[in-house]
Amino acid sequence: MCGIVGYVGNQKAAPVLIEGLARLEYRGYDSAGIAILGVGGTQVFRKVGRVRDLEASLPKRLTGRVGIGHTRWATHGPATEANAHPQTSADGRISVVHNGIIDNAAALRERLAARGVTFTSDTDTEVIAHLIARSEAGTLEAAVLDALSRVTGTYALAVIDERHPDRIVAARNGSPLILGVGDHEMFIASDLAALVRHTTSVVHLDDGELATVTTAGFRTFSREQENTAKAPTSVDIDIEEVDLAEHQHYMHKEIFDQPYSIERMLRGRLDERFGTARLDGLNLGPRELRGFRRVKILGCGSAYYAGQIGASMIEELARIPADAEPASEFRYRNPIIEPDTLYVAVSQSGETADTAFAVQEVKRKGGEIIGLVNVVGSTIARDSDGGVYLHAGPEIAVASTKALTHMATGFAMLALLLGRVRDLSISDGQRIIAGLQSLPGQIKEIVSEEAHIAAVAGGLAGAQSLFFIGRVRGFPVAREGAQKFKEVSYRHAEAYQTSELKHGPLALIDETMPTVSILPDDELTDRNLAALQQVTARNGPIVVITHPGVIDDPAIPQITVPKNESELDPILLTIPLQLLAYHAALALGLDIDKPRNLAKSVTVE
Ligand code: G6P
Repeated sequence: MCGIVGYVGNQKAAPVLIEGLARLEYRGYDSAGIAILGVGGTQVFRKVGRVRDLEASLPKRLTGRVGIGHTRWATHGPATEANAHPQTSADGRISVVHNGIIDNAAALRERLAARGVTFTSDTDTEVIAHLIARSEAGTLEAAVLDALSRVTGTYALAVIDERHPDRIVAARNGSPLILGVGDHEMFIASDLAALVRHTTSVVHLDDGELATVTTAGFRTFSREQENTAKAPTSVDIDIEEVDLAEHQHYMHKEIFDQPYSIERMLRGRLDERFGTARLDGLNLGPRELRGFRRVKILGCGSAYYAGQIGASMIEELARIPADAEPASEFRYRNPIIEPDTLYVAVSQSGETADTAFAVQEVKRKGGEIIGLVNVVGSTIARDSDGGVYLHAGPEIAVASTKALTHMATGFAMLALLLGRVRDLSISDGQRIIAGLQSLPGQIKEIVSEEAHIAAVAGGLAGAQSLFFIGRVRGFPVAREGAQKFKEVSYRHAEAYQTSELKHGPLALIDETMPTVSILPDDELTDRNLAALQQVTARNGPIVVITHPGVIDDPAIPQITVPKNESELDPILLTIPLQLLAYHAALALGLDIDKPRNLAKSVTVE
């Protein structure tokens, strides 16, 4: 989705902004722009397409040391140069970049048009630029506040003003915004990825908070203009984590990160002696944990599928009824919030609007909600009552891989903890711990089979349509497999419960429709094998994701993964499906890290 960067300091602003925007490319966008405030005033450059097209269009000498930049994902009006940000006031004095949606933009446009303002774009952002320019307040801060008092909606914004050329004023309401503190320089960004090359000292703005940044530093303040006196915190990101290294794509890099990132995630969190997990960030003691009679998991996209994997782990290990629901549905159905239910929000970015709203809804109704979140300090992490950080490191590719594995592993630890305050024995707890500790080595084994998985993927890439099937524990794995495949290869991939195949979808099976079957070695193996015969009997091609020793017919294409504890097997079974989707997309020559129409984190409705 849209990205914001801003710079004030002693360097030339343009290269800093361009580099920052390139770091935000992964979020998905269709146009980009920058505004540079220099000696002669503000210069604005906008371009439809990639950041590199914008960069190529810039004049050689662009010396201003204050500027703002933006990548836009069209919401109000199509992706055109006129609709790209920065948006400016009629006289060009004020420039604004904005993420989010202004709900009353249409009414404000009408009012401004009646007063003679001519609009040059279809955006809601232009309204803000005009409102600030028309404000009679003396300072830029007061003018921004004046404008914001007239708008309703969500925003993260950064504003520059030719009359106050030493500063950027930023504001946040419902859309993330971070300040980066440098040495006589300050950065603004909607996402840490744009900052980490420059500084790891950051300030997260809260909703309703504003900030002024200059070369001398920053000041944060409330809508009432009172200082909020935020202190910078240090973030733990390594620049290497946002670089591609030897990989061709971020998706590939992130798949291969998993053995190391999972090991890091587990560190210090497993208590072998008592066979349980240590999750201090939950802020819940054993008595409170025992009190929950139900668990409700909320997330979107892959986070929702991870939630389904988690729900079955919780039911199996803790014997508490658990289910997952798309947060995007939950928030709109006036959900019944029960006092003895533990609500869990799952999100890589911690900024997905639907999930963040669901968190608010649960809290408004007095529910207890924890977060399984990757990005430290993100909205959902801060709004939850407690949580488990995923420690997956930055995930840049739009298609989620390591974050999903980390979510599932986080659920395994939560299930273990919930189980151990109930009826799960120490030895069963120790069995799960041993299983968790085996994950990094086993993931390494799976990714070392890349060449074989790529060959299988090559065979699937030609199909227009595929089934992914699994049952019980394997069903969310199949759903995630289908999701990955459709996201990056643009093939129609549909997940079905293996048990439901005969109740309808079998009608579609013929020699052109492959089925990828999740077939673990567990209590359902025989039933799954029988269902597979219904496919082969109708000449449907099959690929089986399974454990060693399940399929003895060498003619059946299979990818085997090492066996773990049955409750944890879904974590490992998802890994070959990530590589399968990746290699199908590679064979098709597609833009793997930035699939069409998708955004990394959907921060608007
Ligand atoms: C978007 C992405 C998905 C992702 C979902 C949830 O739709 O395209 O890949 O799974 O958001 O994102 P989150 O950051 O909340 O995990």
